[in-house]
Amino acid sequence: MLENVTVRFNKCFKASNECKKRYRVLMGGAGSGKSVNVAQDFIIKLMSPNNHGANLLVVRKVEQSNRNSTFAELTSAAARICKKQLSNVWEIKESSMEMRCRINGNRIIFCGFNDLRQREKIKSINFPAGKLTWIWIEEATELSENDIEILDDRLRGDLENDNLYYQITLTFNPVSSRHWIKKRYFDVVSDDVYTHHSTYLDNDFIDKAFHRRMEMRKKFDPEGYRVYALGEWGAQEGLILTNFTVCNFDNNFDSMVVGQDFGFNHANAIVLVGFRDGQVYVCDELYQYAKDTSELISLAEGRFDKNILMICDSAEPDRIKMWRRAGYNAIPAYKGAGSVMAQIDYLKQRKIFIAPMCDNLIKELQAWRWRTDNNGELTDTPVDVFDDAIAALRYAISGNLRDEGISFLK
Ligand SMILES: Nc1ncnc2c1ncn2[C@@H]1O[C@H](COP(=O)(O)OP(=O)(O)OP(=O)(O)O)[C@@H](O)[C@H]1O
Ligand SMILES: [Mg+2]
Repeated sequence: MLENVTVRFNKCFKASNECKKRYRVLMGGAGSGKSVNVAQDFIIKLMSPNNHGANLLVVRKVEQSNRNSTFAELTSAAARICKKQLSNVWEIKESSMEMRCRINGNRIIFCGFNDLRQREKIKSINFPAGKLTWIWIEEATELSENDIEILDDRLRGDLENDNLYYQITLTFNPVSSRHWIKKRYFDVVSDDVYTHHSTYLDNDFIDKAFHRRMEMRKKFDPEGYRVYALGEWGAQEGLILTNFTVCNFDNNFDSMVVGQDFGFNHANAIVLVGFRDGQVYVCDELYQYAKDTSELISLAEGRFDKNILMICDSAEPDRIKMWRRAGYNAIPAYKGAGSVMAQIDYLKQRKIFIAPMCDNLIKELQAWRWRTDNNGELTDTPVDVFDDAIAALRYAISGNLRDEGISFLK
């Protein structure tokens, strides 16, 4: 049905795409090409007439996170592969997030794993044609080992089509070396397990600016580079904040504030923060590289209420003026001796809830650690690179420190 399809794959994933073992575990650093590769791989496999009766379930811990990640990857992979034939080959339902291949009836559905209802839903999934054969768990470190057991249980029974096989694919950036994924798939030798490791250095399609950011990280934050860029298992020791949970929550707050850290080569980060019963809720983030202030102001339009206090990086008064001129209630945060430590203490003493769409803040927090000295001992100074969304969060809460009697605003 499709002629002259050329799909660009990174060579390093060739063996993983050919692998039919039950567990296909792809770990790697940021930007290594895992998600694009897996999305393209599944689209091609699901379109193949040889694979009729195959169906894919895509899982992320938080259901809504699928929309901007896995659903977006799979629909754009389908568009790249099918080009003008897209609507003849794939039926895509945007609102309910479903994809059906018109060639063979194979389907892709998306699910979360956050609550009992979703768990029950997964247990009762059925497909009009064929069986659930493949599961892709994106950002698999978010799930618990028990979640995987439930998913694993779903892949059983005889398959009518001999070309098919059951397989669970996990993609993730490694976080802690104590994670169950390491114990279960990497510390054992099993014929059922295929593991793969990739980094941005294996990705022929990543842009030059990404390379430059990683090189900068290598220079200023070697441990962060090892985990974030090289995708190696990290030590939990030395992480600054671990008291955060990624989840959905309702938006009734006692008060709200916006925090902004200015940047151009670094990211410019804006976060919207709510407070309720003394806890911190991060509701939204805007995270952009290489945008000037007027571009940022247009991107922020409609997303951040102008009446809410916006506490900004004090280093750039001119930018604050521009935000004020655009109608925002922007003021500088106080940056004095000890202010960062006071902000960290404040954050450590609370529960921090982060909405799933705040990907950048989540990634930064997972890697934010104390510096080590020449002897490898932890110091009490945070590594201060790749902390732009964190800086925005620190500014956001700095107003509360003032309210608690500590003077932190000019
Ligand atoms: N096969 C490909 N063809 C074209 N571009 C690609 C391909 N693979 C990766 N890229 C480019 O590299 C970028 C990073 O790839 P991808 O998002 O798959 O990385 P990742 O390993 O999933 O990263 P993370 O761990 O941060 O989620 C993509 O946004 C895309 O621009
Ligand atoms: Mg990815």
